[in-house]
Amino acid sequence: MRAPFVLVSRLPLASGLRHHQNRGFAAAALAPLRSEVTEDVGSGSGQYSPVASSQKCGSCGKPLKPVQTVNSSNRYLHCTDCNSLFVTSSGSANFNKWNALKSNETMVKRPPYPREIAEYLEKYVVGQNAAKKSLSVGIYQHYRRLANNAENNAQNYLSQGQAHPHHGNAMNFPQAQAQAAVGHLDYGHDPQFSKPVRIEQPPHTQAPMFRAIPEKETSVRLDKSNILLVGPSGVGKTYVTQVLARILDVPIALSDCTSMTQAGYVGEDVENCCAKLLQNAQNNVERAQQGIVFLDEIDKIAAAGDSHGHAYRDVSGEGVQHALLKLVEGTVVNVKSGRKGPGQQDTVPMDTTDVLFVASGAFTGLERIVGQRLDKRAVGFGASTAIHSVTKDDSDQALINQKRDKLFSQADQGDLIKFGIVPELVGRFPVLVPFHSFDKSMLVRVLSEPANSLLAQMKYQFAMDGVDLDFDPEALEEIAHLALERKTGARALRSIVEKVLLLPKFEVPGSDIASVQVTRGAVQGTESCSYRRREQTAEQEAPEPVAIGAS
Ligand SMILES: Nc1ncnc2c1ncn2[C@@H]1O[C@H](COP(=O)(O)OP(=O)(O)OP(=O)(O)O)[C@@H](O)[C@H]1O
Ligand SMILES: [Mg+2]
Repeated sequence: MRAPFVLVSRLPLASGLRHHQNRGFAAAALAPLRSEVTEDVGSGSGQYSPVASSQKCGSCGKPLKPVQTVNSSNRYLHCTDCNSLFVTSSGSANFNKWNALKSNETMVKRPPYPREIAEYLEKYVVGQNAAKKSLSVGIYQHYRRLANNAENNAQNYLSQGQAHPHHGNAMNFPQAQAQAAVGHLDYGHDPQFSKPVRIEQPPHTQAPMFRAIPEKETSVRLDKSNILLVGPSGVGKTYVTQVLARILDVPIALSDCTSMTQAGYVGEDVENCCAKLLQNAQNNVERAQQGIVFLDEIDKIAAAGDSHGHAYRDVSGEGVQHALLKLVEGTVVNVKSGRKGPGQQDTVPMDTTDVLFVASGAFTGLERIVGQRLDKRAVGFGASTAIHSVTKDDSDQALINQKRDKLFSQADQGDLIKFGIVPELVGRFPVLVPFHSFDKSMLVRVLSEPANSLLAQMKYQFAMDGVDLDFDPEALEEIAHLALERKTGARALRSIVEKVLLLPKFEVPGSDIASVQVTRGAVQGTESCSYRRREQTAEQEAPEPVAIGAS
């Protein structure tokens, strides 16, 4: 069995990053600095626990000492003898997973490039190219940042250890302090001194010990750039994050802000998103601290403003925003660990400094705020005929969408503040990504193009009964047209298609129907879907017409 920790580096650490790059991408997520695996010397209990003194250096066999880090978990182990630094794994379970991954074909030697992430998104998400780009870059930079900062932490530790030759390294600090406390300095067997010299000091004059300020900062620490997705309803804000979640190599938590309340109120605590992250990281705090939190529907915690009146919350929404502030910025929160038992803590401290936050919201009415800012003439937009009046004309709707998209793409942080998000929170989301709305042709693409598209799903459902399902191109256009009228983006597509296919879904199982053809008339409700039965080749009408409406 392998040890639950791996060698990071021996001094000097110059080649550390090169090692990391060569060792495989999944390794970066499990333990960012893996470079060489030691033999089994630990207990391998499978629990993430403080390191026992019995663990020995894989290089020289001397006992390892844990390095004190800012958070409670002992991540690094140091061999004072040969100056090797090890990073602990979260336990044998993850370590075995890492070994399994290592032998797996899915391993790559680097994080996926933004272009590759975008290509993957392309298979599932129609349009939204700006969002795909921003998210791909955000995710890639997140991976890079994790690797870089972990490398820096290790390097800083080692350079600190060298900076105080007279006091040993940072870990000997308490020992030196203890000596000062008892008021004597023992020079041991140095031949320079004929006999040990004792310097008596009254307790109140004990000299305190301070850590020296480093002469120069050797490394650049990368800060995160949280992302805010803004756009109308049903255009893929939540969907794109769900698709991304499938390929992420770090723990993720999808959280909905709608149910979040201030501490003390009935509802979900803000810190719950961290609890989810920890849960998805199998209770491994170190891994959870490198995760990504998706905060959906963040506009629902906006304080009431001029633009949206009572549709949103009052001051309590602002309270939630303030609670989110610290979390997004980076703080240590006590998170329920999900573990209970003798000697085990119910809560664990978790640092959110490195957690990437991706928030999204429809921000209905934001276009008016942007319009007011950009042009006095735009004040009327939305408030007058254009957006609130019910228009049957397709081109009008397309024009409105076009205008709205343009305004959304020009939205800035100030507009969000006016919308009711506190400036401090807005400031913590430096990347603002606008989503565009869909026109008819795009809705047709959403219906049919993506892997796992709605049509593919429906065809699969019928194929399970041995029946072919086909849609006329005009039928698809009609579905898109009806969906556009509902003004809920791509969300309306499913309900329209389900309605059209209700009767065939009822009639097909156990019948002699071989294929179903959906026509424009069937979508409009003026005729029924046409069936081809096994015995007869001639088309036969279904008994009842399927009536569907636009609402
Ligand atoms: N760009 C897209 N490509 C493919 N399918 C999409 C796209 N946008 C939306 N969809 C489909 O529409 C559904 C609803 O989209 P989604 O939940 O992402 O909306 P949203 O933008 O989060 O809206 P809201 O602001 O109302 O939450 C998705 O489940 C998906 O099936
Ligand atoms: Mg959503």
